[in-house]
Amino acid sequence: MSLFVRNLGVVGRAFRQNVRCMSALPAPNRNPSIPETKLFINNEWVPAVSGKTFETLNPTNGEVIAHVAEGDKADVDIAVEAAKAAFELGSEWRRGDATHRGILLNRLADLMERDRAYLASLETLDNGKPYKDAYFADLALSIKTYRYFAGWAGKRHGQTIPIDGDYFAYTRHEPVGVCGQIIPWNFPLAMQAWKLAPALAMGNTVVMKTAEQTPLSANHVAQLTKEAGFPPGVVNIITGYGPTAGAAIAGHDHIDKVAFTGSTEVGQLIHSMASGNVKNVSLELGGKSPNVVFADCDFDYAVEMSHFALFFNQGQCCCAGSRLYVEEAIYDKFVEASVARAQKRKLGDPFDTDTEQGPQVSLEQLEKITELCQSGKDEGATLATGGAQHGDKGYYFQPTIFSDVKDDMRIVNEEIFGPVMQIAKFKNIDEVITRANKNHYGLAASVFTKDLEKAFKTGHELRAGTVYVNCYDVLDPAAPFGGYKMSGQGRDLGEFGLEQYTERKTVIINTPGKNS
Ligand code: NAI
Ligand code: MG
Repeated sequence: MSLFVRNLGVVGRAFRQNVRCMSALPAPNRNPSIPETKLFINNEWVPAVSGKTFETLNPTNGEVIAHVAEGDKADVDIAVEAAKAAFELGSEWRRGDATHRGILLNRLADLMERDRAYLASLETLDNGKPYKDAYFADLALSIKTYRYFAGWAGKRHGQTIPIDGDYFAYTRHEPVGVCGQIIPWNFPLAMQAWKLAPALAMGNTVVMKTAEQTPLSANHVAQLTKEAGFPPGVVNIITGYGPTAGAAIAGHDHIDKVAFTGSTEVGQLIHSMASGNVKNVSLELGGKSPNVVFADCDFDYAVEMSHFALFFNQGQCCCAGSRLYVEEAIYDKFVEASVARAQKRKLGDPFDTDTEQGPQVSLEQLEKITELCQSGKDEGATLATGGAQHGDKGYYFQPTIFSDVKDDMRIVNEEIFGPVMQIAKFKNIDEVITRANKNHYGLAASVFTKDLEKAFKTGHELRAGTVYVNCYDVLDPAAPFGGYKMSGQGRDLGEFGLEQYTERKTVIINTPGKNS
């Protein structure tokens, strides 16, 4: 999302770029055609075995957009059979050259580029996120991710190893097999790309369950995988609920690997369900990421970036900078400036290009945020702005800031996943590092300072998978992303992301007479 920061402009240097790129934003399609709503198995669209469907809602007004097939265990079984058959030795997919997989992934990226405005419109309709964010952030990152992993196909080299004796030893990087992937609703297209692209680059086959809140855009991408030429059974997409279709994937004996992004609670369940056949498991879970602002920072920039770090995507980011620690000397001024910025934030129709904040994804999320804000008030934090639903239609929530927060409050420890910022005060660097690390999450962290020593010390001592120094949400397909502690295990993206979809085979050949 480095691109996003530049495109949407934060301050200063970013501004010129912002204007140039905004003019490249095509008009949204406010009534995008609804893609296929069945299950995508073996390159065909099929109804759920049960015949059941569920509703996907428009979060701006709660109205039904479409009825979507409700996949369950029986459908997962069929999809797994298709994925297994596609993975068989001798299948079209397994016979194909590694470089051909890269060609297919690049073709998919081209098709997404062709349909970029449509996909962004669909994402806005189903998720509620501003269209310009969907276009410049979600679509940009998704397309880049397919292209990045396309580049890896055919470039994952093994080694030759000089073991003792008359042997020739080498390693091969092989696909894991049938991969089950369960994704959330906050970045539907990007999460699909982060999971699909490395799996396909390495030659795996996939059964993916999309989030029940946002099933539409992924179904269009499924159709595009067929158009790009992926053979039947390589990509299978199941729409449906977590405890049914999702659990069937996590516990399936013929799935070799499961990858999940979502809540820590469900991640724990998946971990134990996956133990039946000792699946390879990768988890990208929740966060409560500390954002440490020193008094010597570039003040206006730090205020704006901290605002972005928390409020971007309606606060629905696993890596949101949601525990803000500001040094005592600038605390009051920082709270005042942050409140002024939050009050300027423009809520409204996500298709309008000046809208900064759309609705939360669902009533359930709105209620969770409302309840946590109430706990903040009950526990004695100062509500500096916001704190309630915005308007009476849809799932909008006011940009909210709590100041004078204490480390043991629920709003400081629990993932709110909404537009709610907490600002705490600190006195010195050792104290803030200790306090910032006192949380069971460890996904991301950030530090704003002009002092290199403070930047290094804080950056290295914070226990988090990604640390941003004087920036935030810079996401690039080449840079690994994932969590320490209860924020998960394994990494998405980059070479480490590729590793999650790779088995390493050692081959040892008896070579009598070798003289080495
Ligand atoms: P969730 O963890 O329930 O859902 C994520 C995915 O897991 C969805 O596809 C869902 O259908 C599936 N799932 C749910 N229960 C399952 C089960 N028993 N077995 C297999 N799959 C299952 O998250 P939810 O309920 O949508 O949001 C709750 C909270 O989780 C949010 O408020 C937020 O704090 C956190 N969250 C974190 C995300 C992240 O990016 N790390 C993304 C979404 C939610
Ligand atoms: Mg929806």
